[in-house]
Amino acid sequence: MVVDAPIERLNGRGLERWFAAAGQPVRLDMARSGAPARSARDLLDLAGPAQVQEYLDLSLDYGPGIGTERLRAAISTFTGSSAAEVIVTHGAVEALLLACGTAIGDRHLVAVASPAYEAMYLGVEAMGGIAHPVPVWKPGSARLDLAAIADLDLRRYAAVVVNSPHNPTGLQADVAELEHLADCCACAGAALIVDEVSMGTLDPGAVSFGTSRAVESQAVVLIGDVSKAFGLGGLRVGWCATTCPQRRRRLATLRDVTSLANSAPSQYLAALALENRAQLSISGTARTNLDRLGVCMASLPGSSWVPPTDGLVAFPGPAIPGFASVAFAELLLAKHRVSVAPGGFFGQDGHLRVGLGLSVGAFAEGLAQLCEAMSEAATSGPATFGPATSGPAMAEATREAAR
Ligand SMILES: Cc1ncc(COP(=O)(O)O)c(C=O)c1O
Repeated sequence: MVVDAPIERLNGRGLERWFAAAGQPVRLDMARSGAPARSARDLLDLAGPAQVQEYLDLSLDYGPGIGTERLRAAISTFTGSSAAEVIVTHGAVEALLLACGTAIGDRHLVAVASPAYEAMYLGVEAMGGIAHPVPVWKPGSARLDLAAIADLDLRRYAAVVVNSPHNPTGLQADVAELEHLADCCACAGAALIVDEVSMGTLDPGAVSFGTSRAVESQAVVLIGDVSKAFGLGGLRVGWCATTCPQRRRRLATLRDVTSLANSAPSQYLAALALENRAQLSISGTARTNLDRLGVCMASLPGSSWVPPTDGLVAFPGPAIPGFASVAFAELLLAKHRVSVAPGGFFGQDGHLRVGLGLSVGAFAEGLAQLCEAMSEAATSGPATFGPATSGPAMAEATREAAR
């Protein structure tokens, strides 16, 4: 069966299965790609007493399938779309599924800008499509090369999926290149699905691709969520937005058989978060953490290090001969109780994905351990590392990280 194929191929070896097998995240969780978790109280504290009462009195009946008006209006100020163009979903992961499912018809091929978060391939294949990974990044590069996708014969493709800011590198697609790709997709009758779940998390001045003239072509489907920026993954609130009425109708119809509607309390809390996003921003924290990670990487000569420009992840490639990211991450977790995401899950085994969302103190603690472990592996081999045997540069970086 078509839907079994990608899951069998993944065979429990994907990033999300790895997270699930690891159980409850550790305190120094640098594997996560979002902000630290927030509580309902954190959000209700931002509301006045009348709104708290309104929240407690919410009807728990089915709500509108496309989402509440208030939430869609809050999303539209984020994406630059109009509220009418937004459909609320269960996280970006359902949005991806719906966007792929509605694009795939007579054409089955979907180009996925790679490396990519695994749902971008699985979403395509679960909907009966064929994911075609197109490399847009290689180690050491400070840009995403979308020309590799624009040069394809897109008339053969149902859709193109691009993630910007990009997980795992934190690089942003160049707007002019993305606009050109949108034009190519529109000419070829393909959808351009742009996942921007981490937009504005590191770079508070970043703007959604929804503000580009390219969305008027109606080929573009924007995807976002409240999981990454606000640490609200448990609310399961994401969205799709498109200017194309036909696509919206198809998205809403497909959504009737995936999850029908989101819960009213989740939507209320998500709207509160979006309405108060300036107050909830963690970009200052992420920037401080990134600077410290940069110091650490500079102390490992020969490493591949391209700082992210937006998003809450960085993707360093430590200069360690024979480095194996999964084994390293598992040893780091077992010995130091620090979690990072192995680059191997993105097809880049020489790299680690380091989350920037932890509080400054916790990040410094985790980074000090990570620096020691990398230094140890660099000198004594990647498979084992015990007490630090680091050189002076690494010792200084470790002290700097702990500050
Ligand atoms: C690029 C990207 N898209 C989508 C998702 C799914 O997020 P959610 O379903 O929580 O909105 C993730 C989660 O890590 C992600 O990194």
